[in-house]
Amino acid sequence: QEELFKKLVAHSKEYGFIFPSSEIYDGLSAVYDYGQQGVELKNNIKRYWWESMVRLHDNIVGIDSAIFMHPKIWEASGHVGAFNDPLIDNRDSKKRYRADVLIEDFIAKQDEKIAKEVEKARKRFGEAFDEAKFLETNPRVIEHKAKRDAVHSRMVAALNDNNLEELRQIIVDSEIVCPISGTRNWTEVRQFNLMFETKMGSVSEGANTIYLRPETAQGIFVNFLNVQKTGRMKIPFGIAQIGKAFRNEIVARQFIFRMREFEQMEMQFFVRPGEELEWFKKWKATRMSWHRALGFGDEHYRFHDHDKLAHYANAATDVEYEFPFGFKEVEGIHSRTDFDLGNHQKFSGKKIQYFDTETGESYVPYVVETSIGVDRMVLQVLSASYEEQQLEGGESRIVMHIPAALAPVKAAVLPLVKKDGLPEVARDIQHALKCDFNVQYDEKDSIGKRYRRQDAIGTPFCITVDHRTLEDKTVTVRHRDSMEQQRVAIADLSGMIAEETGF
Ligand code: GAP
Repeated sequence: QEELFKKLVAHSKEYGFIFPSSEIYDGLSAVYDYGQQGVELKNNIKRYWWESMVRLHDNIVGIDSAIFMHPKIWEASGHVGAFNDPLIDNRDSKKRYRADVLIEDFIAKQDEKIAKEVEKARKRFGEAFDEAKFLETNPRVIEHKAKRDAVHSRMVAALNDNNLEELRQIIVDSEIVCPISGTRNWTEVRQFNLMFETKMGSVSEGANTIYLRPETAQGIFVNFLNVQKTGRMKIPFGIAQIGKAFRNEIVARQFIFRMREFEQMEMQFFVRPGEELEWFKKWKATRMSWHRALGFGDEHYRFHDHDKLAHYANAATDVEYEFPFGFKEVEGIHSRTDFDLGNHQKFSGKKIQYFDTETGESYVPYVVETSIGVDRMVLQVLSASYEEQQLEGGESRIVMHIPAALAPVKAAVLPLVKKDGLPEVARDIQHALKCDFNVQYDEKDSIGKRYRRQDAIGTPFCITVDHRTLEDKTVTVRHRDSMEQQRVAIADLSGMIAEETGF
């Protein structure tokens, strides 16, 4: 799986999906650029989200708020005080780690040990193997499990109590070593705020520290009254936004999974106090269906309910997808209570209340949010789509099975040969299609090579213009996944592509 992931990263660069930022200057850690295919895929993902959340819901509207906001917003939201990672250094390697991530890796290792014991026993006992009984009775498994559970509950308690000394003690007691130096020479644990700071105004006029937003949600909260009043919105209703967010992540790894500059698609749903947990359940189900509708296989998704809640939540879950490096969070669904609106009311001194005409009451609405990383969705689509296929006759191809609605290029128009008027006809077809779809024209190299190039970027249709086209105005359409070919009238191309690539 790790090997596969390395290949995917290389493929993403080779075919213009994702480049490391500032590459000719040796890159910038955990920052990436989207190339000519990547930007199309990313835009399609954003559109898929926007249309299903905003356009299809009568009671959800969108906004686009600024990245720069008044610095007090981040005090009210709790980010100045509590948006921290607990960091620990190894004195020998001088490497810095997130203490909770080191502990989570240790917990994952205990799980691996258990899985190995199960595998060994399965081989030994064959047909007669009873996994459930083995897990309950094998002394080594019981020991690994006890260790894992004890460490896990100590970590959750330490994080909830913000007990940094206890976090360090868990690392010491569990004999966790630095992955680089292999030693246990740990410093104390310190809090590190994740927000990037910058200055607004010139130094001479007295610059103010402002932050690059670490989530888009606050732009929605501070516009709650503007949208509610101007849109005459009635609770329950939602406000959605797509935009950049910035976090000074220390554990930056796994390609575009954890970045310092990334994009979020967030929706805050405002409800009556007391109804939030019911809406939380509804949004969990709605968002899971959205993911599964992409067709990557239901078994690759699961919920992970939080036992450590963020400073603002009374319930929280992650939608996890099975990446090549394991199940990881793609989306968070949080019941944020009235924490944000209540605090903005307090910090701004402005009344943020909703008058409910049905109950005759005024109150600060409660909030259920759905928050998903665009880049993580891109990574999910790329990893789910990548396949190396062995073909008949010893040939092979790399094909990206990107859902047609999200594919960067919908169709490629290819003249079979570069003569006899075929390029001109192909150009005409390309021009006719390009108002509605992202289409490419390609006449370079053999037809087989051109097919492979389109497979590698996930183009659902290759349209080949040949000599028969000149006689009967039909073309050959080759389908990406099945490689089947069919004859289609030029006049029917647009309808066929629209049907297959629509949301
Ligand atoms: N407003 C709530 C919020 O921001 P979060 O769980 O911190 O919640 C939501 O983030 C989503 O944003 C995550 O599920 C993930 O998809 C994405 N995300 C968060 N940090 C990220 C990072 N450093 N790089 C890429 N995506 C990130």
